[in-house]
Amino acid sequence: MKPEIGLREDVERVLIDEKVIEKRLDAMAEEIDREFPPGPIVAIVLLKGAFVFAADLLRRIPRPLDIECLNVASYHGGMESSGTVKFLDHALPDVKGRHVLLLDDILDTGRTLKAVADRLMEEGCIAVHTGVLLAKDKVRAEDVQADYVGFEIGDEFVVGYGLDYKGRYRNLPFVGVLKG
Ligand code: IMP
Ligand code: MG
Repeated sequence: MKPEIGLREDVERVLIDEKVIEKRLDAMAEEIDREFPPGPIVAIVLLKGAFVFAADLLRRIPRPLDIECLNVASYHGGMESSGTVKFLDHALPDVKGRHVLLLDDILDTGRTLKAVADRLMEEGCIAVHTGVLLAKDKVRAEDVQADYVGFEIGDEFVVGYGLDYKGRYRNLPFVGVLKG
């Protein structure tokens, strides 16, 4: 039998520790709850990357939430954005007349958030408020910002806490950088 492919063994360094993430999510949830208009929020979670972040963030928001997921792909497994955003679902959630909290794992080129936010606006939502765990400090392909950012990081490839490399490492409890 082949030995298990290591998880932590492949990590060069931890960039953001689990405890630090948890503390930051407390503050983000409080900020979102304070700034959103009263009433239920539609939270849209971009799969797969945002599932860990969203699970931990949304459980900290003490108000009714309608939670929807959207499956989109832009990296297609590697370390570079493909430049196109693919919608993998047949239908979009019903957001007509609603405020949306759109959650993704990381803001990189900005193409994903821009493409999804535009589609949701076309579907007739009132506003799209965006939240990401991480935002890379770089010039973006699309002029887009996130309303709620967990951490600003350098322009390097990271994994863990939902983020993958070729489908792996999403279950690391921290954000880290792989060995080269
Ligand atoms: P954008 O459309 O270029 O902003 O990229 C957003 C998507 O690319 C995210 O949802 C991630 O899935 C993926 N991505 C961007 N940077 C990284 C990274 O450093 N590690 C893992 N995935 C990344
Ligand atoms: Mg990915």
